[in-house]
Amino acid sequence: MDVIALSDPTDAQIEEWHSVAAAAWAWDRPGEPVPDLEHTRARLLIPPPASRNVMWAAVDDGGRMHGTAYLRLPHDAGRAAEIDVQVLPARRRRGIGTRLLAVAADRLRAARCGTVVAQVLAGTPAVPFLERHGFRRVLSLRVMLLRMDELDPVRLARLVADAPPGYRLIRWTGPVSEELAGELAMAKRAMADITVGGSSRWDPRRVRETAEAVEARGDRLYTVAALHGPTAAPRIAGFTEVVVSATDPERAAQYDTAVVPEHRGRRLGIWLKAAMLEWLRTERPDVREIETDNVDDNSPMLAVNAELGFRHQRDHLDYQADVADLPTLVR
Ligand SMILES: CC(C)(COP(=O)(O)OP(=O)(O)OC[C@H]1O[C@@H](n2cnc3c(N)ncnc32)[C@H](O)[C@@H]1OP(=O)(O)O)[C@@H](O)C(=O)NCCC(=O)NCCS
Repeated sequence: MDVIALSDPTDAQIEEWHSVAAAAWAWDRPGEPVPDLEHTRARLLIPPPASRNVMWAAVDDGGRMHGTAYLRLPHDAGRAAEIDVQVLPARRRRGIGTRLLAVAADRLRAARCGTVVAQVLAGTPAVPFLERHGFRRVLSLRVMLLRMDELDPVRLARLVADAPPGYRLIRWTGPVSEELAGELAMAKRAMADITVGGSSRWDPRRVRETAEAVEARGDRLYTVAALHGPTAAPRIAGFTEVVVSATDPERAAQYDTAVVPEHRGRRLGIWLKAAMLEWLRTERPDVREIETDNVDDNSPMLAVNAELGFRHQRDHLDYQADVADLPTLVR
């Protein structure tokens, strides 16, 4: 088994990569819709902001892929990299995953990147694999799903009409306006306590670049925010974001939701989310369900989601390792 770098993957390599990912997905998440080829292509070819993608494949003598490794390498080596290793179900427990991880670790060391994170599904082989290789669990996320056809429009309208005094709603698609970018960055920093990977560094530029990256993939970002203060210089008290994928619009993804600490406890969270659901119901009838994940001890947000009709699906775990602890290549 050889490990080859895929610096500029061909169409055929992307297709083969996708078939490994689809087989791993179907094995670990039976019954879940498998992401399509275009999703894989966009993920491999369009790096997230301030990062580059580095990819490898484990191939046999005939050149057939048995496993893949994806590394999101941040330009700033002080920030955490992100890794995703996938091995065909029929080729597991033969050291392929370890080999791919060791190759990626070599690259991380060369880039002087000190920390790496991985997100995996609870109850799958990824958990003992990562724990065997020096990763520790830093976060548990509860994934919940809302079916749009189960929404009660009358109840939703009532929740939206029940505006907390002193606040008004604003909504937009794509990147935030220049005028509100600073405010949105500030509100996003309010989430720093619950996310791994440096969310406290949100600034107006990063806020806009992140939204531009979503749009560059062909996906659509919807944002609803609660404003307060004077019309000429409004402040953002809270916001919620949903992304509708171009390739799989049926299942939208809840992105960030945050209420700035001094505005918490006034039902702004449920008001914002209800307004988002009402907007999507009319604007995007192609969206059939919305998936969200929340830190499992974030009880206010879990309660808001349960009240809106979200149901528990599965748990995701965030793992982190010091690169120094990762396996090294046996040459
Ligand atoms: C996680 C994954 C990449 C492991 O690939 P792999 O090639 O089977 O891993 P290895 O053979 O190198 O396993 C190394 C060690 O990890 C541990 N391990 C891996 N799978 C395990 C399992 N199912 N149960 C218990 N321990 C396991 C063992 O300690 C194993 O050593 P051993 O076989 O000598 O006991 C593979 O199961 C996979 O593709 N999962 C789906 C994708 C995924 O969730 N990736 C996220 C990881 S970043």
